[in-house]
Amino acid sequence: MNELELIELAKMVRNRAFAPFSNFKVGAVLVTSDNKTYTGCNIESASYGLTVCAERVAIWKALSDGENSFSKLIVVTDVENPAPPCGACRQIIWEFCGNISIVLSNLNGKTKSFKMKELLPNPFGKEFLE
Ligand code: THU
Repeated sequence: MNELELIELAKMVRNRAFAPFSNFKVGAVLVTSDNKTYTGCNIESASYGLTVCAERVAIWKALSDGENSFSKLIVVTDVENPAPPCGACRQIIWEFCGNISIVLSNLNGKTKSFKMKELLPNPFGKEFLE
């Protein structure tokens, strides 16, 4: 899939977001190194802190399917300035996906692209635990 198709897929999965408390819907598509796609949307809980972000839903789906090598993550939100992943997701993206490309888009197709290291400079990782 090219980038426009990936953004369309992220828009589609964004429609499945369960966000009755914030009304802020997020769609994510994680692309593996061999070009498979895993989608995710945010799923909110009435116990707000149990909410899971779209990015982590996509990552957990991919990891639980046995995937371990990724190239790109697309995140779609309905805001003028395409929203970046939250801090918790940045940590998880770094740990499980490494320095992948992050493409942010809004519904009008305005995009911004980053490498993960730009979004999480000086990251904490497993090397500190050795
Ligand atoms: N959210 C995501 O899905 N991804 C992010 O990186 C930022 C926040 C969700 C969580 C919650 O359901 C809603 O957006 C508002 O914070």
